Amino acid sequence: MPTPLDTPAATAADMPPHALWRGDRVHKRVYTDPAIFELEMDRVFGQAWLYVGHESQVPRTGDYFTTRLGREPVVMLRHSDGEVHVLYNRCPHKGAKIVPDGSGSAGKFLRCLYHGWTFKCDGSLLSVPLRSGYEDTSLDLKDPQNGVRRLARVATYRGFVFASMAAEGPSLPDFLGGVATSLDNFCDRAPEGEVEVAGGVQRVIQRNNWKIFFENLHDTVHAVATHESSWRAAKEEYASMPEGTPKPFEIVIVDGNGEPLEFWEKLELKGYDGGHGYMEGIFTPPQDPVSLAYVAALEASQGATRADEILRVNRHNTIVYPSCSPHTSFQQIRVIRPLAVDRTLVEIFTFRLKGAPDSTFQRALKYTNVVNSPSSNVMPDDLEAYNRVQEGLGSDGGDWVSLQRAAGRDQSLPGGCSSNGNSEMPMRNMFRAWAGYMAPKGQA
Ligand code: FES
Ligand SMILES: [Fe+2]
Repeated sequence: MPTPLDTPAATAADMPPHALWRGDRVHKRVYTDPAIFELEMDRVFGQAWLYVGHESQVPRTGDYFTTRLGREPVVMLRHSDGEVHVLYNRCPHKGAKIVPDGSGSAGKFLRCLYHGWTFKCDGSLLSVPLRSGYEDTSLDLKDPQNGVRRLARVATYRGFVFASMAAEGPSLPDFLGGVATSLDNFCDRAPEGEVEVAGGVQRVIQRNNWKIFFENLHDTVHAVATHESSWRAAKEEYASMPEGTPKPFEIVIVDGNGEPLEFWEKLELKGYDGGHGYMEGIFTPPQDPVSLAYVAALEASQGATRADEILRVNRHNTIVYPSCSPHTSFQQIRVIRPLAVDRTLVEIFTFRLKGAPDSTFQRALKYTNVVNSPSSNVMPDDLEAYNRVQEGLGSDGGDWVSLQRAAGRDQSLPGGCSSNGNSEMPMRNMFRAWAGYMAPKGQA
């Protein structure tokens, strides 16, 4: 029977999501059609809470950090009352970006480089050259609406700043649901209970749709095939070391991808409402001096029982859909910024655990560099796979993408579901959320 997709006249805007997503399969247009991408910018990114950055990136009054939410350039900055604000990076006069892309200090107030309008760091208008020229005109400079526009909603969860372009919707804790525990554990692992961004940012522009990256975060079945060159090299390197050599950290985190499918099958995957989820941890840090010094610092601060409780929460990638993926045990957040239907920017931030030895931070950086940075031995394998998917989907070789593995076997849990490690449940769970966002109002 023909579907609306078979009708060339169908436009993305009136296409019902069930025409594109059928529970256990999805139409290729969700990855390749620029009209669908534009609709996602409005309906997914225009509604969800999106990760902006961490409070530690703007420690002092006037400090700013720019990023992009959906297609909107925004700036996160610290106001003189200590509060962190998120504003559209757009001057109300003629539209210039108020601050240049990147991060830095604006001083006590923001001053637009074009005609010198100035604003407080909460966006409110402070002064305008030739103010008298606006008297008795249609522009009321006393109207707070004429400052730099704020995002509709901004909220912080343990220092992680999120914003939403929608005035209405669930609170941030309700939105995060079951994955709030990953952000908790991210911070609880710090002896002082707080984290801070350190070590700059690494950026990768991927030649693929943003959803392909998200899907891979919990795709355990790809590891042994896609990463064969790196896990095999790591195993060979270790085999060449003298017998009894403790396995170096770099090898632990690379050769793990060579585990057989039975290993991944036993891991638990959790999927929560909103498309979020996490995968049980796959690495056990080696019992080397770096790990032992860290555990000692955590125990000194929290006591042995609480430290043990914190460290037992061992998770691999967490998905906070649709904007970021924290890795709690090696302190990094990957931020996903869709640029076009086939271009995605991923920014990788590494964090320092306050109160932990510096070697713990160096280890987190090592994890980022070895596994996820642009120069990693592992990430290029994934990038090649993502690009092949993007290019293959652009062909006439088929219309549907399979999400069928272990469909119908998900176990329900409060606010979501769980499955074994080789299930495609996380992909189905993300598309459930996607379809809810994409449905025309009243049809979710
Ligand atoms: S564009 Fe900003 S002051 Fe004119
Ligand atoms: Fe991978």
